[in-house]
Amino acid sequence: MNGIILYQPQKIAFGTQVVLQLPDDCRQAGYRRILLLAALPLLDTANRLAASFDAETQIIEYRFGEPTVDYFDGLLNIAGEFQPDCVIGIGGGSVLDTAKLLAALCDSRQNVREIFGKNFLKGRNCGLICIPTTSGTGSEVSPNAILLDESSMEKKGVISPYLIPDVCYIDPDLMVGLPARITAETAMDALSHCIEAYTNKYSHPVIDNYALAGIRLIADNLEIAYHDGQNIDARAALALGSMYGGLCLGPVNTAAVHALSYGLGGKYHISHGLANAILLPEVMKFNLPASPDKYREIALAFGAASAGEGIEKIKALSAACGIPQKLSEIGISRSDVETLADLAMKVTRLLVNNPREVTKEDAIDIFMKLVVNNS
Ligand SMILES: [Fe+2]
Repeated sequence: MNGIILYQPQKIAFGTQVVLQLPDDCRQAGYRRILLLAALPLLDTANRLAASFDAETQIIEYRFGEPTVDYFDGLLNIAGEFQPDCVIGIGGGSVLDTAKLLAALCDSRQNVREIFGKNFLKGRNCGLICIPTTSGTGSEVSPNAILLDESSMEKKGVISPYLIPDVCYIDPDLMVGLPARITAETAMDALSHCIEAYTNKYSHPVIDNYALAGIRLIADNLEIAYHDGQNIDARAALALGSMYGGLCLGPVNTAAVHALSYGLGGKYHISHGLANAILLPEVMKFNLPASPDKYREIALAFGAASAGEGIEKIKALSAACGIPQKLSEIGISRSDVETLADLAMKVTRLLVNNPREVTKEDAIDIFMKLVVNNS
């Protein structure tokens, strides 16, 4: 068996109302200057939390979609002036990724452009706390942060153990108001994390446990949470599934689904979860011959008798949650396929993880199946 190193937050608090521990924890940690980055719908929650901090607090409203390098630079200027000793992110994956990079760079001589890739970040002095309000990226437990570099239309990742938060609070109460569409798209992202780690070329038995647990939780609960956002048990199950997906990202990470989806986000501004949701079944069909036993296990989690039927069940689940099944339904056409394949082939850091080699021709084939109406 290969060796493995696990880096995880020092404290993972999971359950309803765990976020109420935050002010006491900040007091105990001795934080004096807290920068709180909050997604707009969470501003009331952020203000309530900040009112009970025993520290000078600045709240920044995150008013953006998936973060760009330029948007990040603007926030970094604000953070640099405030000089926080702790950054707290409260929101979806975009907010958490941004908070992680702000904590790492607010007092650093490095700039974000020189740390893209794996292990270029030299350290982090500032405290970092993440509070997810979606169940998707698993950013609250992962070493990853993704920014869009608009100059090249590429989504670029910073991967470093210094980006793993010190503390995270995964509180399903914060997720009950999430719209059904975002619930579905983010859960499909989490499902992609688990499936891509489980079937990964560098999969590992420790991570297989997380991945399979996440797959089962999402299989059993996504449709319930989609139709009834107030169902706290289903919300908690998705939050746990997402956390398991996040724990897969450091030691094993994702593969071709994410590599092929980055161009859809970078050039066409399609949300990360939606892009992955549409690509996932087609990439699974492509990968199935390389990992048939693991695809059978995934199928079992979906109550299917064969690997092929399991993929169909995932498609059916995604469709039942209102997710389009073709890229052509969201404005992508045959003329975009060459560009998308070129952008995908640049994501070598993820393609190397795929259980089956993906050539540019393979990528074109996969995209073509999703822009024509023959299946
Ligand atoms: Fe993802």
